[in-house]
Amino acid sequence: MCGIVGYIGHREAYPIIIKGLQRLEYRGYDSAGIALYDGESIKLSKTKGKVADLKEKLENEISTTGTLGIGHTRWATHGVPNDVNSHPHYSNSGDLVIIHNGIIENYDSLKKELINRGYTFKSDTDTEVLINLIEDVKKNENIKLGKAVQIALNQVVGAYAIAVFDKNKPNEIVVAKLGSPLAIGIGDDEYFIASDASPFIEYTKNAIYLEDEEMAILRRGKDIKIRKIKNDALVDPYVQELQLNLEQIEKGGYDHFMLKEIYEQPSAILDTFRGRLLSNEAIIKMAGIEDNMKRFLAADRIIIVACGTSWHAGLVAEYIFEDLARIPVEVEYASEFRYRNPVITEKDIVIAISQSGETADTLAAIKLAKSKGAFVFGVCNVVGSSIARESNAGAYTHAGPEIGVASTKAFTTQITVLTLMALRLARAKGTMSSSEFRHHLIELETIPGKVEEALQSDAYVKTVADIYKDATNFLYLGRGFNFPVALEGALKLKEISYIHAEGYPAAEMKHGPIALIDEQMPIVVIATKKGHYEKVVSNIQEIKSRKGKIIGIVTKGDVSVKELADHVIEVPETLESLTPLLTTIPLQLLSYHIAVMLDKNVDQPRNLAKSVTVE
Ligand code: AGP
Ligand code: GLU
Repeated sequence: MCGIVGYIGHREAYPIIIKGLQRLEYRGYDSAGIALYDGESIKLSKTKGKVADLKEKLENEISTTGTLGIGHTRWATHGVPNDVNSHPHYSNSGDLVIIHNGIIENYDSLKKELINRGYTFKSDTDTEVLINLIEDVKKNENIKLGKAVQIALNQVVGAYAIAVFDKNKPNEIVVAKLGSPLAIGIGDDEYFIASDASPFIEYTKNAIYLEDEEMAILRRGKDIKIRKIKNDALVDPYVQELQLNLEQIEKGGYDHFMLKEIYEQPSAILDTFRGRLLSNEAIIKMAGIEDNMKRFLAADRIIIVACGTSWHAGLVAEYIFEDLARIPVEVEYASEFRYRNPVITEKDIVIAISQSGETADTLAAIKLAKSKGAFVFGVCNVVGSSIARESNAGAYTHAGPEIGVASTKAFTTQITVLTLMALRLARAKGTMSSSEFRHHLIELETIPGKVEEALQSDAYVKTVADIYKDATNFLYLGRGFNFPVALEGALKLKEISYIHAEGYPAAEMKHGPIALIDEQMPIVVIATKKGHYEKVVSNIQEIKSRKGKIIGIVTKGDVSVKELADHVIEVPETLESLTPLLTTIPLQLLSYHIAVMLDKNVDQPRNLAKSVTVE
């Protein structure tokens, strides 16, 4: 989710905001906009594209004077990237204006209610619903903006970091936070707001990071007032003096984007659930599936096309779909599928998985499938991307921008979306009992917390990385749901440390690769309690007898592997089909630490691009 910037004080707001949006460019975005109050009215300009495009458009379009303003870089979740869907958004009256980072899950029901009350909407966004809800509350209760924001937010389900102002009360900005970041810079009779401190760090190092479910009213010449949204209780402001430099702020205090994104996985998986996993009602809601359920139920098979890490997510999905929904699945490298003259029928469903939504081979594969009458369902991370637009339907992973070339949170959020899809279809096909289904939903909801727990092994993984960083070859082994995770772990190591690594099904060792094993060879074995555990333990014994160095990825509390392996890294227990979401975490950390110790360019490894838009 991208960037918000705002200013109220004695300086010209525009230069602060436009530079602040440029500072937030590292977060990736698809459109940008600014609203300024020039002393008489609101001047607003916004556009699809980059901040540079906004600057060019805006400076020819509106006057850029005024000491109050808000700006936004959008990472679309509801409504494709275009000028109309860009932020800021006006309320119907034109009095209020808002910028928003996050997702309003119940925007659809709120929008229907507001339409019934005569509101009209220009955009497809959830944000425009929020600003009109605030306006509706303000008008009906005849109250000030701050109170109206508070009452409106108590009707909202979802995540937000918002800034709102009223042209009739241009001495204040109202901000609020839940689930998305919001920092407030405290200056000398001036306030700054932003998604992180980078837009205001040169003006003030005094910052307040709002906590979840807090809101603040920033009024000229007044002290900041922070309140709990739920009960209006006043909160003592906790002002920090920031010691971070610009680069450290962009990476959230982490040394690399890749590490930041590894640690973002709990919240990214949570954002991918939002509005879709409703465990209280024991339902999964996915518009792309609901609207095409007949197609899915009539399908003879599902063909998954993808590349790289996304292809590994597809392999995990094969195990999940076949195990839970009993639908035959084939997983294809898009680059092979597009050229091998595959047999495709109109009864086929093709799932295209792509973080960027721009991978040329995957795009070509789905065009081929569509030309033969197949139905294409896209699983992308970038709203409005080419693959998303080319697909007949789809579901976005709400991982937020993934900057590091090595894919991490995209992988786990892809698996999350695919698991939700498989569960939804299993329920519709009756291949899962309602109790099994509910059990899966409840366990799925614990995954963000369990990923958090798996991340706690980071320091120990770093000690293991230090021991094996000079190895020239690694083997990664896994069985069942974790075989694709072994492939993914090997790819992670290869692409950022440049050490050769191979992933194999653990049972495959005896068909050749075991000849490679000697005391120089580290072997990472995924040996979680679920799924052929005893057989994997025998594979470990085979390796041990050949003096291989064994790094076991085990279920917390494991004893057997601990006695055999040279190192064990624990992950929490979960359902077998959900173990890939946890076992991948230590493998991401292992490759990260080895690459850092080898002084490699972790975020931009040699020869690689974040999105391979050429063949
Ligand atoms: C994975 O770490 C790599 N960055 C690469 O394999 C990537 O997964 C592949 O290029 C596919 O990209 P996409 O998901 O954007 O289609
Ligand atoms: N959900 C809002 C939209 O799609 C905000 C997205 C963002 O965080 O940039 O416009």
